[in-house]
Amino acid sequence: MLENNLPGWRHDLKSSIRKEGESPSKRWVQLATVNDKNEPRLRTVVFRGWQQDSSMIIFTDRRSEKIKHLKSNPNGEILWFFLTGKTQYRFKGEIHELNELIDNEHYWNTLSEKSKFSWFWGSPGEKINKKFQSTNEIPPNLPKPENFVVLKFEVDSVDLLKLEKTIHRRYLWKKNNQWKKIEINP
Ligand SMILES: Cc1cc2nc3c(=O)[nH]c(=O)nc-3n(C[C@H](O)[C@H](O)[C@H](O)COP(=O)(O)O)c2cc1C
Repeated sequence: MLENNLPGWRHDLKSSIRKEGESPSKRWVQLATVNDKNEPRLRTVVFRGWQQDSSMIIFTDRRSEKIKHLKSNPNGEILWFFLTGKTQYRFKGEIHELNELIDNEHYWNTLSEKSKFSWFWGSPGEKINKKFQSTNEIPPNLPKPENFVVLKFEVDSVDLLKLEKTIHRRYLWKKNNQWKKIEINP
């Protein structure tokens, strides 16, 4: 797809990311899900890239709580905050597992050996078993395990707030409004 055909907010986001320079935290986002008691749950995850023009890719562990939440409720929100630009993006959308064998293999191979190894640790959130954690050696060429999950966050609205000197600016885009940019009160 031509860069110019991207939803307008992708250009704003690109510029916000660029302003953060080399900081690894520029790819850390907060992902909210809802559990089966209707309680919100938040955690930090790494933004791994785009699928089509408006879906975000996230890697996770099948054994984690968020996977249980998504089974009963696919709705999610991503908050992406940029310190340098004093800018906040709130993305609303649905989250689904990506089950493309070749793509998932490719995604697995984008990880360092050290990152891959974390999918072979004990089950997230369970009482630690020191026996499993004691190894400092990371085996090379780890194959993609069953618990490696690629999530696709399909954005359907974007709420951008920029803290600016004279007046803060806030904009809204909705997919069902052809991603038309609307300025709203901050
Ligand atoms: C900087 C940072 C990056 C993280 N990246 C991820 C990630 O990409 N995927 C992930 O599942 N968890 C990631 N985590 C761990 C999550 O925040 C969370 O602890 C874990 O996913 C379990 O969450 P859950 O029990 O709500 O499913 C990251 C944590 C931090 C602090």
